[in-house]
Amino acid sequence: MKKNIKSNVYWVGKVDWELKKFHGEEFSTHNGSTYNSYLIQEEKNVLIDTVWLPYAEEFVENLAKEIDLDMIDYIVVNHGEVDHSGALPELMKHIPDKPIYCTANAVKSLKGQYHQDWNFQVVKTGDKIDIGNGKHLIFVEMTMLHWPDSMATYLTEDNILFSNDAFGQHFATDRLYNDLVDQCVLFSEAEKYFANILNPFNQILRKKLDQVISMNLDIDIIATSHGVIWRDNPMQIIEKYVMWANDYQENQITILYDTMWNGTRKMAEKISEGIELADKDVVVKVFNIAKNDTNDMMTEIFRSKMILIGSPTIGNSILHSVAGFLHFVKELKFKNKKAASFGCYGWSGEATKVINESLKSAGFEIIGEGFKNQWNPDEESIKNIIEYGKEIAKY
Ligand code: FEO
Repeated sequence: MKKNIKSNVYWVGKVDWELKKFHGEEFSTHNGSTYNSYLIQEEKNVLIDTVWLPYAEEFVENLAKEIDLDMIDYIVVNHGEVDHSGALPELMKHIPDKPIYCTANAVKSLKGQYHQDWNFQVVKTGDKIDIGNGKHLIFVEMTMLHWPDSMATYLTEDNILFSNDAFGQHFATDRLYNDLVDQCVLFSEAEKYFANILNPFNQILRKKLDQVISMNLDIDIIATSHGVIWRDNPMQIIEKYVMWANDYQENQITILYDTMWNGTRKMAEKISEGIELADKDVVVKVFNIAKNDTNDMMTEIFRSKMILIGSPTIGNSILHSVAGFLHFVKELKFKNKKAASFGCYGWSGEATKVINESLKSAGFEIIGEGFKNQWNPDEESIKNIIEYGKEIAKY
């Protein structure tokens, strides 16, 4: 069922209540997601984006109930990733010659995925199409936000920015708008989305936000491709993005570890105790890497000014849970954060060195050589670990 957004603009997307993982198994979606597709019915009828592949048939069936598919004049593909383009092959079976407006990179992406030579109309930033009744669609390339093919589309007169992934959240809701949903869940999902998907592109994002702001577009609504539509003070999410894109951090230290026989766990807890004794204001959080959600922990790192990573030494190295986690940390290209390492060992004790090397290559400022403890901590060791926590708090 289509839902009116404003004037002749309708939401025709899909709410995916049961989605628990996105990007394969890479991204946890505790609150499901939505794939937002929009239908504009002016003198020209325009479809903006579609939905994820598993919902292709359902999407096209529903769309055909709202509009004779032959009456669609233009299709806009803001981004070729399958969660937005997945229903294109099904749709194009019905209207194979209709023009698809997208970036040059999106043509590569769509051809690469679907192997079809559709009627592609390549657009660049500033290009516009007339859709009648005095309204135009203006395209804005959003290169690397978050794929090389991404773009946004602006509808004049109604002042709607169809931003695709930017400003989105994995948040299933029928309530459609930002002012109608739980604000804690909304901003928590928006921040998690930013930390896990957009953070690596901060430098590009800062320039793009400046460009969008300098275009002086009146923006009444930001219609994202995931989660809610920002209609109540849409600038609030742009302001959040400006803040998050500037090497964001809070007064938080996060300790993340895995453990074999609880020695490294005890170290994590005692380091936390030491930090809290030395600094009553700093927020300290402790997570077992193997037992917590990876994307939630990445969001905690995003918020942190410093992290400590712990692993016992095994096979002259570190636990694979910690190694995989550090690989992901590096991918997210965090900036302006400090880091240190710790861990128990029985014999050779290479873990802290391995962790430090990994954190250094991930762009963290490393504090010290790491705190190693041979065997399980005894009373004397525990005092030393607490002291180490106190020292760390001073950085
Ligand atoms: Fe929501 Fe990059 O796809």
